[in-house]
Amino acid sequence: MPEQIDAIALRRPDDWHVHLRDGGVLAAVLPHTARQFARAIVMPNLVPPVTTVAAGRAYRERILAALPPDAAFVPLMTCYLTDATDPEEVARGHQEGVFTAVKLYPAHATTNSAHGVTSIDRVMPVLERMAGLGMPLLVHGEVTDPEVDVFDREAVFIDRVLDPLRRRLPELRIVLEHITTEEAVNYVASSGPDLAATITAHHLLINRNAIFAGGIRPHLYCLPVAKREKHRRALRRAATSGSEKFFLGTDSAPHAVAAKETACGCAGIFTALCAIEIYAEIFKEEVALDRLEAFASLNGPKFYKLPPNEGHITLRREAWVVPERIGYGDNTIVPFRAGETLRWRLQG
Ligand code: NCD
Ligand code: ZN
Repeated sequence: MPEQIDAIALRRPDDWHVHLRDGGVLAAVLPHTARQFARAIVMPNLVPPVTTVAAGRAYRERILAALPPDAAFVPLMTCYLTDATDPEEVARGHQEGVFTAVKLYPAHATTNSAHGVTSIDRVMPVLERMAGLGMPLLVHGEVTDPEVDVFDREAVFIDRVLDPLRRRLPELRIVLEHITTEEAVNYVASSGPDLAATITAHHLLINRNAIFAGGIRPHLYCLPVAKREKHRRALRRAATSGSEKFFLGTDSAPHAVAAKETACGCAGIFTALCAIEIYAEIFKEEVALDRLEAFASLNGPKFYKLPPNEGHITLRREAWVVPERIGYGDNTIVPFRAGETLRWRLQG
């Protein structure tokens, strides 16, 4: 009989990719992320997007103001890259400690990406400036060409956009965000230390069948969309491999029920309520609990050249049911695994 483990202690983890939104949604979702994680890389795809140092600073202030009084949480801000971004604005944001990184959304790839980049050529001056500063570029790695099958868009992006960019500007430090394919795993694993990837909890847990199980499941629709089982397995191998190149990024992306359960629903899965518990469950299943701390708490800070957190968290073996909904104003959000029983519970 394998020994029964009743508690998992970890250095406090960070979330290297999260959507906190703004206003009432921010107030509703932030306490969950702040409870689970010490720091988070905050996505800039607000309406309008965060494209200036002033906007980044103001958004950070709104996040800090929305924190529960006893929370010790540090939001790490990102600048939304557009064709018109001024390299000096990005550099100033970095030097003034406002922007940790820059986010590249190919135009129209995902939620609130209409202002995204239309071609790498147009943003080369910004990327060159960032390479000089050592400032990371965070990439939503999907082509938007409507001719490309939606399940192939990540793999095609690597061939058509990412690999040429890395050859053109090898000094640029890049995080390929929320990877979903074996191709991405292999590409990142075989590259040098300046390319890393985040992996979400939901892409480790579901494959594309889950989106259609018994009927269409809008709350399991996100971008990049979940892929075939062989890709989920590759992601699990990467996350639990011990490689420094893979680290935790939830891509928790809340949308109101009305925006999900509709004829043209938004992409995004809200995992902030139970992300670390799900990662723990997965690492336990993979008999890799000894590697969870590296994935959740060490590899990310190392890539971002930040110290790991000092504090610790404990997860206990305790069954609990994920709430069906969380409310804000007149709206509600359905969390990932709503109504399901989880095996691990974050203490405190
Ligand atoms: C994100 C969102 O809702 O902002 N949605 C998603 O499906 N992940 C955008 C993104 O990160 O692609
Ligand atoms: Zn995202």
